[in-house]
Amino acid sequence: MWDQTLFRRGEIFEFDHIPEHFAHRDSQLRSLMFGVRPAMQGMRPLDLMCVGPPGTGKTTAVKKVFEELGEHAPGVITVHINCQANQTRYTIFSSIFHKLIGHAPPSSGVSFRKIIDEIVKYLIQNEKILIVALDDINYLFHEKEADNVLYSLLRAHETHPGTKISVIAILSDDRMNYVFDPKVGSIFLPEEILFPVYAWGELKSILHDRARLGFYDGVISDDVLDVIADYTSEAGDIRVGIDLLKRSGLGAEQRASMTISIEDVRFAYQRSRMLHLSRMISSLSEGERAILAILAKKGASTSGDVYAAFHESMGLGYTRFHTMLSKLVSLRLIDADLMTTGMHGRSRMIKLRYDADDVLKCCALTPHLSHSTIANRQG
Ligand SMILES: Nc1ncnc2c1ncn2[C@@H]1O[C@H](COP(=O)(O)OP(=O)(O)O)[C@@H](O)[C@H]1O
Ligand SMILES: [Mg+2]
Repeated sequence: MWDQTLFRRGEIFEFDHIPEHFAHRDSQLRSLMFGVRPAMQGMRPLDLMCVGPPGTGKTTAVKKVFEELGEHAPGVITVHINCQANQTRYTIFSSIFHKLIGHAPPSSGVSFRKIIDEIVKYLIQNEKILIVALDDINYLFHEKEADNVLYSLLRAHETHPGTKISVIAILSDDRMNYVFDPKVGSIFLPEEILFPVYAWGELKSILHDRARLGFYDGVISDDVLDVIADYTSEAGDIRVGIDLLKRSGLGAEQRASMTISIEDVRFAYQRSRMLHLSRMISSLSEGERAILAILAKKGASTSGDVYAAFHESMGLGYTRFHTMLSKLVSLRLIDADLMTTGMHGRSRMIKLRYDADDVLKCCALTPHLSHSTIANRQG
């Protein structure tokens, strides 16, 4: 049984796998290339901001462009920072230092100033241009850390003339709901590149490519792939589909079958739904999570009732509430159906699209943001 596997290349189903064939993102890749191209002529690249929900190819697109620069632009150094893993200015600059100098800065007694001085000195002496991708920058929206990081990166040329540093911010969100500090807003004016959710046909073709490379021939039929595409499209996140391919393959293997059945997919889906939910919830603001928690506790409610509870717990006004509600709808975490009956005429009935207990579990797993973030975001 051990030597009977359905997986030709299992690593194909890992999320950090960079696909050889990256389709359906041509216009985004073009915009990225347009933004970084000045670096090839020794100029500072444009600052960019990639915006879109989770699982829309943002990280992959930026890594593809960085690969390209690595091959064709010897004067450019690119650094990709995962802001979920590096949530402070100090750790971010330590990572940049590491990439440039080849080793981490001494672990104690080194001031931030000293680290940035070394980085800049290196860039100037070696005549290099630095592009920093701040991936999932929403994780820095606490304690003004995003402002501090951007400020330090984009103002470096003032203290060290000749320094050329640009930023690609990647925001896992469908709108810009963070207001930068005015002093940062005046120096960080990124070109926005939008990453919309993939259409059903695009999802299916991406999943088909993965399955063809990752499984042996005949393991997965077109019908089964359709079911996976349906689930993926429902979630709007391509990762759901990639994870389903892997899990249903493992499930089929487990029962010693040479092919994946629709039942394998259904079973795998129950498990991966939770994974998807917790990833979505971890990218939300405290206020957005509060709305989900209210719905989980109250059950389906009118928007007026939800707002009353939200206002009481968060102290925020209706405009903010409404923005957050629309975001939760677009992330497919809740449904908001217009009702025409009721005391106030038209009202919305809000309900969760996920199990209430699962939602509460995921909300509890996510660390709370500080109140300063909320104040900051109100901007
Ligand atoms: N157009 C595409 N073609 C092939 N694979 C894709 C495509 N878009 C996304 N993927 C794959 O989906 C997964 C999630 O993509 P990623 O770039 O990490 O999304 P995001 O950063 O927007 O959350 C990765 O494994 C990636 O390889
Ligand atoms: Mg990403």
